[in-house]
Amino acid sequence: MVQTIIVVGGQWGDEGKGKIVDFLAERADIVIRYAGGNNAGHTVVVGDRKFKFHLIPSGIVHENKLNIIGNGTVVDPEVLVDEIETLEKMGFKIDETKLVVSSSAHTILPKHREEDNPQKDPHAKMIGTTGRGIGPCYRDKIARKGIRISDYIESSSSETAKKLKPLIKDTCFIINEAIEKGKKVLFEGAQGTLLDIDHGTYPFVTSSNPTAGGALTGTGIGPTKIDSVIGVFKAYTTRVGAGPFPTELGTEEQTNKEGTWDKIEPVYDEALKEALEKANSGDEYFQGKYMRLKGREYGTTTGRPRRTGWFDGVAAKYAVMINGMSSIVITKLDVLQGLEKIKICTAYEVDCEKTTKFVLNSKKLAKAKPIYEVMPGWNEDISDAKSFDELPKNTQNYLKKLEEVCRAKISIISVGPRRDQTIIADDSDLF
Ligand code: IMP
Repeated sequence: MVQTIIVVGGQWGDEGKGKIVDFLAERADIVIRYAGGNNAGHTVVVGDRKFKFHLIPSGIVHENKLNIIGNGTVVDPEVLVDEIETLEKMGFKIDETKLVVSSSAHTILPKHREEDNPQKDPHAKMIGTTGRGIGPCYRDKIARKGIRISDYIESSSSETAKKLKPLIKDTCFIINEAIEKGKKVLFEGAQGTLLDIDHGTYPFVTSSNPTAGGALTGTGIGPTKIDSVIGVFKAYTTRVGAGPFPTELGTEEQTNKEGTWDKIEPVYDEALKEALEKANSGDEYFQGKYMRLKGREYGTTTGRPRRTGWFDGVAAKYAVMINGMSSIVITKLDVLQGLEKIKICTAYEVDCEKTTKFVLNSKKLAKAKPIYEVMPGWNEDISDAKSFDELPKNTQNYLKKLEEVCRAKISIISVGPRRDQTIIADDSDLF
């Protein structure tokens, strides 16, 4: 029986983890965030209501679940209180039976936010940070100059500190005791493997460990307690911020030039039609633009367009390895509908040599040329498919190829944003 699951992003974040976590959270007793802070952002759709979270785990919208913000995270107290108050206004009662924060999590202070400003700091600009103070806060933690949230609460008489005080607990005991009692525990990853400070495309990464190892150090449980690691991948690839992206279609400059979602929205239908026509005539930039438009690949908070590209099987195989993924989830498969040809990167050419291993050096990776396998696409609408067998043959073949390239089995396929647009292909490592 599966009792503990880690969900991790397999790419550069924004893989649609929120929906998968939400789906699994329904069957979990405890949901825990273990790394990152309010640099993350995910939308969960429940019925006709949309919830946006940056810090609070996705389990908060479910009844009778304990949500934990683990010691590996960094917490901006004002943002946390803001999210709590938003939820309260929506009718959710938030107390320590629903949400607790590790006493050892570090505090994002105003000075961290001020420092992490891409408009003022050339380094933050170069990385393309979210500007939320994440990097400076982790830096102070590692330099042993940071302030743990328990110390912040003790030293501050602010309304924010008073509101948070009852929620601050030594969560490692809560989690380990719950596991001992047979409770189901879900570890909710933020960001993605390729943004990991150790295993990602350094320096174009975040400052924590979003990978499965981070779920252990970020919560205080041992590796023997984990039953399964599920990696979430989009059926294609996206990236926000700067850094190497071997399968990118078009350039970062071209994407940024398109502008934010508010500019696209009024002309969406014509733009989508044009993009598909040009994509199918072989124009690579428009292939990427089609994914961006159809997949609504615009930042949840900023509205900024995301860079898009084909599925990178070399990077995915690496992510499967680094996390020890027991299965993978493919999201947004419906977005590829209409493209006559779909490509999967199965190797890179670097300095005139072919490799199927991910390239750890970012300067070298930036020079890597993708080598593709081309597969026929599909024109059928798959957004109502309820099983693998109901999918068109070409879609099935694409999924089988992804399994082969990643060397992992697919457990869940997502064909749309709604909860009922989720196909369970293999439930052996789910709750
Ligand atoms: P930071 O985490 O704000 O320091 O940003 C570092 C890099 O990680 C930037 O390229 C960000 O765009 C990226 N990043 C951080 N959080 C996320 C996320 O949740 N999704 C996608 N990219 C992210």
